[in-house]
Amino acid sequence: MSARSNSSGNKITVRSLHEKKQVGEKIVCLTAYDASFARVLDQAGVDVVLVGDSLGMVVQGNETTLPVTVDEMLYHSQMVARGLTNSLLIVDMPFLSDTSVEAALENAGLFMKQAGAQMVKLEGGAEQADIVSILVQHGIPVCAHLGLQPQRVHKLGGYRVQGREASAAEAMLQEAKILEQAGADLIVLECVPAELAETITGALSVPVIGIGASAACDGQILVLYDILGLSMGRIPRFSHNFLSEAGSIKGAIQAYVEAVKSGTFPGQDHIFS
Ligand code: KIV
Repeated sequence: MSARSNSSGNKITVRSLHEKKQVGEKIVCLTAYDASFARVLDQAGVDVVLVGDSLGMVVQGNETTLPVTVDEMLYHSQMVARGLTNSLLIVDMPFLSDTSVEAALENAGLFMKQAGAQMVKLEGGAEQADIVSILVQHGIPVCAHLGLQPQRVHKLGGYRVQGREASAAEAMLQEAKILEQAGADLIVLECVPAELAETITGALSVPVIGIGASAACDGQILVLYDILGLSMGRIPRFSHNFLSEAGSIKGAIQAYVEAVKSGTFPGQDHIFS
């Protein structure tokens, strides 16, 4: 049996994520970057562990996620995979690792083959539909990432809420539908007005995971170091320091899991209008 085999039947799969949406059970997602934290998340009942390219900021101390390489993502993903038994592992495609079908297939293939990823996440809208479709055709589940896309921070002129104007909101809704049609199994919405996030969640049959989006999303994701109050600089408004109340790392992660499952997170302070 491999280290990640699990005979208890609690293993999260793409299918079980879809079932959670159908029955209205919230999906708890959190980032991790090494085996020890991954194990704590797994044991606390986090459904999805994302090796986010946010590691470029919170682990490496860069200003943006742009410098992160495929090799670095692979290194961290392999560590995280060793800590997981039940949680589903998603690995972020780092900046410019998915600019062609060939590059996307090669790099996503590395994460699946050498790190045991069960899904890859890529930023971008309708322009990514062909790449999503090819990955899916080759058996690689995809999570699409709409709204604020940190890899485009320079083009966006900062980390800003996206989709506030009616035309941008309509465009995002259409892009979400196109990505679902292309085969995406999950959609992350980052920093979008709560009303738009709710509309997109209701319009799609695949689960929608919010970060700075809406409590009405099918699940939530945050950056681990933010909820532990470890991130350098200011904690984003949409996040919350769960450690200061819980008093231990394990307690903080359990409190986050409970808050997402019960619908008490995100609250009004963590969403945008
Ligand atoms: O890189 C990351 O951690 C992410 C999440 C914040 C969604 O993309």
